[in-house]
Amino acid sequence: MSHIAYVNGRYVPQQHAQVHIEDRGYQFADGVYEVVYLWKGCPVDYAAHIQRLGRSLEELEIPPPMSWGALTSIIKEVVRRNRIVQGIVYLQINRGVAARNHAYSRTLRPSLIITVKHGTGPSEKVANRGVKVVSAADIRWARRDIKSVALLPNILAKQKAADAKAFEAVLHTPEGIVTEASASNVWIVAKDKTLVTHPATKDILGGVTRATILKLARASGYKVTERPFSVKEMRAAKEVFLTGTTTFVMPVVQIDQHTVANGAPGEFALDLRNRYTHYMNSGNPETAWNV
Ligand code: PDD
Repeated sequence: MSHIAYVNGRYVPQQHAQVHIEDRGYQFADGVYEVVYLWKGCPVDYAAHIQRLGRSLEELEIPPPMSWGALTSIIKEVVRRNRIVQGIVYLQINRGVAARNHAYSRTLRPSLIITVKHGTGPSEKVANRGVKVVSAADIRWARRDIKSVALLPNILAKQKAADAKAFEAVLHTPEGIVTEASASNVWIVAKDKTLVTHPATKDILGGVTRATILKLARASGYKVTERPFSVKEMRAAKEVFLTGTTTFVMPVVQIDQHTVANGAPGEFALDLRNRYTHYMNSGNPETAWNV
């Protein structure tokens, strides 16, 4: 079955889907995106993804292409046409099409592209073994809170990880502070058993999964602090793990050449991963698409 994409008002077979060569998303990475996980037919934290999308658009002065209700109907239709029950929805909104010029007109019509992909997410087997990460310099701009499609630093870091047969690249500032990973947020369990993750400032993408894990952890009685931590503290931590839409909760057992704790996934990470799975299972098809 060929995949159906939605591109600027039309549902088209993905291999024939096209965008204009002067789309600013193509020429300047002048656009934003979201990735939503579809779990047993229900989007996970849909409202939070839409809220972040709205914020990213607002920060860049890109008007929403339509109401959130209309956008939701289109996403549901793409999901329906592709018969996806498990996988991801990718949606991208670019500023629009114009003759190449760095400055933009505020009257452009934004482009909207939606695709879906079947997938089962990271396997239990991988999570139960834990993953290796590499460290990499965070060479991104100063507005990492905006989910911009300009991902060159992220892809270079992820490639560094791939070349080292690692799952992710953990990014750090010149001062050695861990910001996040190339496509996920980073957490540690500190010496005093407090869960620590970088605060949701402009220096990181405020992960939707991060926010849910914060809620689940607090509701389960964990001590949680949002504060920066260093690469050095991460290496000495009791546990390290990642969170993200396509990562869920992923224990880290190796950082570069350094083994984390005893080299096995930690109990906090595995417990939170379980709680997150329960949370996804509790999705209600009647309300999951509400914004
Ligand atoms: N990435 N940090 C970065 C830089 C990310 O790109 C992502 C997600 C996250 C986690 O955010 P969330 O929990 O909202 O997925 C953190 C998506 C999955 C991607 O680019 O494919």
